[in-house]
This record gives sequence, C-alpha cells and structure tokens, in this order.
Amino acid sequence: MLHGKRILLNAGPTREFLDPVRYLSNGSSGKMGYALAQAAKAMGAKVSLVSGPVALDPPEGVETVPVVTGQEMYEAMLGFLDHADWVIGCAAVADLAPVSCGEQKIKIDKETGKLVVELHPTRDIIASLASQRRDGQIFIGFAAETQNVAANAKGKLIRKGLDYIVANDVSQPHLGMNADHNAVQLYGHRGPFASLGPALKDQIAKDILSTIARSIEK
Ligand code: C5P
Repeated sequence: MLHGKRILLNAGPTREFLDPVRYLSNGSSGKMGYALAQAAKAMGAKVSLVSGPVALDPPEGVETVPVVTGQEMYEAMLGFLDHADWVIGCAAVADLAPVSCGEQKIKIDKETGKLVVELHPTRDIIASLASQRRDGQIFIGFAAETQNVAANAKGKLIRKGLDYIVANDVSQPHLGMNADHNAVQLYGHRGPFASLGPALKDQIAKDILSTIARSIEK
C-alpha cells in the first residue's frame, strides 16, 4: 500500500541537559513510533527513523538514526526532509530546555537549599519541518491529550501546519504513552474521520497508515 513511498519519522523522548549529568525528559517508550516504522516498512515504504533514547532494537530494514537532544533530532530529520513523501512526528520532544547548560555539575545553593533553573520552550520540530515543506509532502503529527482531545488536536493540526493529526487520550490507564496498547482518533482538515482501537500498537500503527493512505487517495 505504501510501495515506493519514503517515510521519515521520529520516535521516543528527547533530553535537554541542565549540566553534564542532569536532563529534562519524559517517559515516552518510543513503542508507537517504532511500531509505525515497522508497519510502514512491511507495507513497502522506505523508512528513515530518527529516534531519541529508547530501550528498543532498531526495526529491521529501517534506517535508524539515534539522537539525544531536540536540536540533534531536528538536524537529523532536516537531512532526510527533501526526499520524504510523508513526515510523521511521533516523538515526545521535550518541550522545555534549560536556557544554559553548565559545563560542570551544578551545585545546589547552600543558603537557600534550592536550585533555580530558567527554561525556554524548545523548537517545535514537526512545525518547523512542515514550514519548509515542498509540494506533495504529507505531514502527520500526534497529540497526546488528557482533556478536550478533539479541540486540542484540531488546534495543533492548524497551528503546526499539518495534514493529519493522530490524537490519543493519555488520561486512560494502560493506553497511550509508555503502554503496549493505544486508542486513537484521526483528524484531517475536513474533521475527524476514523477512530481506531483500543488495540496493540502494532495493529494501531498499520491501521493509522492504511487509513491515511486511503484518505489521501480519495
Ligand atoms: O504540542 P504537542 O507537544 O502536544 O504536539 C505534539 C506533536 O508535536 C507531536 O507530533 C510531536 O512530535 C510534535 N512536537 C515537536 N516538537 C516539539 C513539541 C512537539 O515536533 N518541540
């Protein structure tokens, strides 16, 4: 179904360092992105996967580039962008980073007993890539929400310049982030058009790709 398509995707968390040993990150397992990479490959696509630090083996037959920070993830993806037909942002990019990274391990202030850290928002990778799109490229993002799933997903679709967004309610235990199962809704510019799962992420991955492929063909 995806024969000859070149798919670029990212997965897993990123890390933003405060000093050589401490970082900000999140609990993303990378399972959804890896399942998508594997499914896309099985459906005939040529897949490039840019992955944050995860405890998963690189999917067979998928060109996998390991990265750590958001900047590294962005730069690695930029290198593949021109040749990609679909770009899928499945990574849980750390959305805040320390304004500066100390060369030495930072000491806690002895007088206050505190460490005050200034943070700034990181670059939105999928939005930055979508702003550099060439004709015919399809951009797909993910939205992990705990409330107002539909409204937040639609807002992100427009704000980030995407064609499709895959929304999941992460407030439900055993579904979504760091779980083996997921349940998602697909949104395009014409509104919601599919509800998939709950099912194993491998199955959800196949269904996401085939549902979007069919929607593009229409
Ligand atoms: O805004 P939010 O983080 O909920 O959006 C999720 C979507 O945006 C995902 O596709 C995620 O990979 C992407 N994202 C990104 N760069 C960021 C934050 C989110 O590419 N700094």
